[in-house]
Amino acid sequence: MMIGGMAATDIAERFGTPVYVTDEQALRDNFRRIHQAFNRHMETRVHYACKANSNMAILKVLEQEGACIDAVSLGEVLTCLKVGYSPDRILYTGVNVSNEEFEGLVEAKVPINIDSFSGLRRLAAISTDVPISFRVTPGVGSGHHQKVITGAKGSKFGIPIEEIMDAFREAVDLGFKPRGLHAHIGSGGQSVDPFTDLVGILLGVVNDLKDELGLELEFLDMGGGIGIPYRPNEPVMDVDELAANLTEMIMEESDIKTLAVEPGRYVVCDSTVLLTRCVDIKRTEEKNFIGVDAGFNTLIRPSFYDSYHHVAIANKFNKACEARYDVVGPICESGDYLARDRVLPEPEEGDLVAVYDAGAYGFVMSSQYNSRPRCREVLVNDGEAELIRDSEDLEDIWRHQVMPQRLM
Ligand code: LLP
Repeated sequence: MMIGGMAATDIAERFGTPVYVTDEQALRDNFRRIHQAFNRHMETRVHYACKANSNMAILKVLEQEGACIDAVSLGEVLTCLKVGYSPDRILYTGVNVSNEEFEGLVEAKVPINIDSFSGLRRLAAISTDVPISFRVTPGVGSGHHQKVITGAKGSKFGIPIEEIMDAFREAVDLGFKPRGLHAHIGSGGQSVDPFTDLVGILLGVVNDLKDELGLELEFLDMGGGIGIPYRPNEPVMDVDELAANLTEMIMEESDIKTLAVEPGRYVVCDSTVLLTRCVDIKRTEEKNFIGVDAGFNTLIRPSFYDSYHHVAIANKFNKACEARYDVVGPICESGDYLARDRVLPEPEEGDLVAVYDAGAYGFVMSSQYNSRPRCREVLVNDGEAELIRDSEDLEDIWRHQVMPQRLM
């Protein structure tokens, strides 16, 4: 198995396991593909949703590609500024934003996408000299799991569509100059239809704003959520078709000049594999287990969303697959698995297991559960591998804990 011109086994040997390995060229290619798909039709800002993977080297690669950023916390904003993004390339879209966070955002001079009336009023009390837009709950939801659908009615995100005109009206009265309208239907959906439904709804609001309030918006932001095929032979969403359809609707039905999209998964997911070492093999009457050194502390998606990640034994690519195995980790919970019922070649202790499509919501959702330090991240480019995050050690786990003197 090769990653960016290097053998996966060599990378694992050199950096240890578990380790997230990102192919820089794949990352660049993904970004360019989606950027071009939209920009060939109309000016589109591609705001990389950095919640998917906020490693600073990855952010820097995308900064070089001309990405903008979708940030959800002051932490993400400050990280992106540190990496070299200018404030105007960042759009902050938080939910349940505290006054302290608003103050930090105002100081950082980043545009803020408002999620509630409470947020609007609390921000106004801090400053109205900030570019704002609104996140609307469009009533259209889509996603790979109930937990990641955000746009449906009753969602905690955004201002309900019935109240969005009032929100803009109030913003203008408060002294803001609202510039855009945003919605995000959810994450990992695989069909084009919910996006066209969404854009249809957003265009209705854009035109109402113009007719009723005389407000001409600068941009429309359709959020992220473009899914990728995690399973072999799963159809791939046609991003060119998506872009052609949506931009055509926007150009025909409104005066909007700039579109924004916020892909996270699409940009980073398939650029990265998680390499984990087989440490233990257990055969029982009911099941066979490949025990590896990564658990849901390292990659939580299978346990948390029942997500499918394709796995292979990296040093046995051309061996026949003979039996079924669960690939399970070292965490003391029965829900700790990376893959279930997979037909794989006969495993041995020391084999290297590759978990595919681990670049989005992989490392960033990892934890120190069971007092296991977080693992390394490596960037591979042109046959060279570089460390982009060192592993933690026990000192990192102990560092912020305080032992009261009286217990000593
Ligand atoms: N924009 C907004 C406002 C979002 O909330 C999100 C994702 C995105 C863009 C990017 O969505 P993407 O293009 O990556 O689908 N942890 C889950 C996914 C949670 C997504 C949260 N919001 C997972 O592992 O599948």
